[in-house]
Amino acid sequence: MKILVTGGTGYIGSHTVVELQQQGFEVVIVDNLSNSQASVVDAIEKISGVRPLLEVFDLVDKEKTADFFHQHNDIKGVIHFAAFKAVGESVAKPLLYYRNNLVSLMNILESMGENKVENLVFSSSCTVYGQPDELPVSEKAPIKKAESPYGNTKQISEEVIQDTLKSLPLKAIALRYFNPIGAHESALIGELPLGVPNNLVPFITQTAIGIRQQLNVFGDDYNTPDGTAVRDYIHVVDLAQAHVVAVKRMIENRMKHNFEIFNLGTGNGFSVLEVIKSFEKVSGEKLNYKIVGRRAGDVEQVWADPSWSNEELGWKAKKSLDEMNASAWKWEKAYRGKE
Ligand code: NAD
Ligand code: WQD
Repeated sequence: MKILVTGGTGYIGSHTVVELQQQGFEVVIVDNLSNSQASVVDAIEKISGVRPLLEVFDLVDKEKTADFFHQHNDIKGVIHFAAFKAVGESVAKPLLYYRNNLVSLMNILESMGENKVENLVFSSSCTVYGQPDELPVSEKAPIKKAESPYGNTKQISEEVIQDTLKSLPLKAIALRYFNPIGAHESALIGELPLGVPNNLVPFITQTAIGIRQQLNVFGDDYNTPDGTAVRDYIHVVDLAQAHVVAVKRMIENRMKHNFEIFNLGTGNGFSVLEVIKSFEKVSGEKLNYKIVGRRAGDVEQVWADPSWSNEELGWKAKKSLDEMNASAWKWEKAYRGKE
């Protein structure tokens, strides 16, 4: 059974391709390599023993997207990861983000309709909740006005999908990810941030390996137990596995509605200082960090209520924070040739 994975050479996409292949799915990847490398396919093949087909083009190109779907007329479902994801960059270049994230989605939906491909899994984000009024945050929580153009593309995308479902025989599952971190246990695939990382864990591992001098901890005056901000970190392999579960749910016609939303988190919140402590423990490295002022746009604390995903999908995140940090560190060392 053939699944199209857009953005399949990227961080979450590559881990999901491996899990799909290990469950017997045939995978074709579309990626324009704007934030990933073609060699990721070699790494995927090393892990799974199967080389996925990679088609390199920009999904913003409507004709190329349509041609691709005509050529691959046996696609059963689509997992749509391809998007730009840097919050700060989206503030500086909003039109780049709206065009890339929304036009690609519209092209895919149009081609799915024309080719009678009926199953879509969409990468959404906990960013749609902003700072929730109640914690843990469930799927029923209201959507808050987006803090960034990036966040807005995720809110609008969910709406575009819901509206399109009313006009086409299409089913969709939006998965709202909390904070994915870590890497595959093989250390052959992981997160490859270009330039200076924005996210906490890549910044920690790059500091520990000596590429960055110091980690800045953004704020210790939040209303949290140790004053630093709290997030729900989830291992990328746990996250990837949820996509396989979602695809099977759709294909086996087990959805309750033609549009479903699931939180993908562990249900546990950890502070920045707790993440650092865990990293120091599992790596044996002392991290050079300093408390600085808050980062604009950050929420104080957010963690998931994953009970709906746990019950309905029969999926549960299994890996601990220590395992997440250990795998991220193993990947960083392997990538830099230090192991
Ligand atoms: P990533 O940048 O590693 O992967 C995205 C991939 O999509 C890249 O390989 C990039 O080259 C490709 N791409 C981007 N625009 C494209 C286009 N127009 N045509 C073809 N390919 C294109 O990012 P990721 O962390 O793997 O994120 C995957 C998805 O999950 C994104 O939609 C992102 O917004 C969402 N998400 C990520 C996080 C996170 O913290 N990583 C959290 C919540 C949601
Ligand atoms: C985590 C915590 C920082 C870096 C972002 C996006 C969100 C989603 C996930 C896509 C925060 C602190 C960070 C550093 C620090 N992505 N931090 N020093 O901000 O929760 O979410 O990625 O949908 O939309 O906004 O993740 O990893 O950047 O930060 O102290 O150098 O670490 O302040 O409290 P965030 P993050």
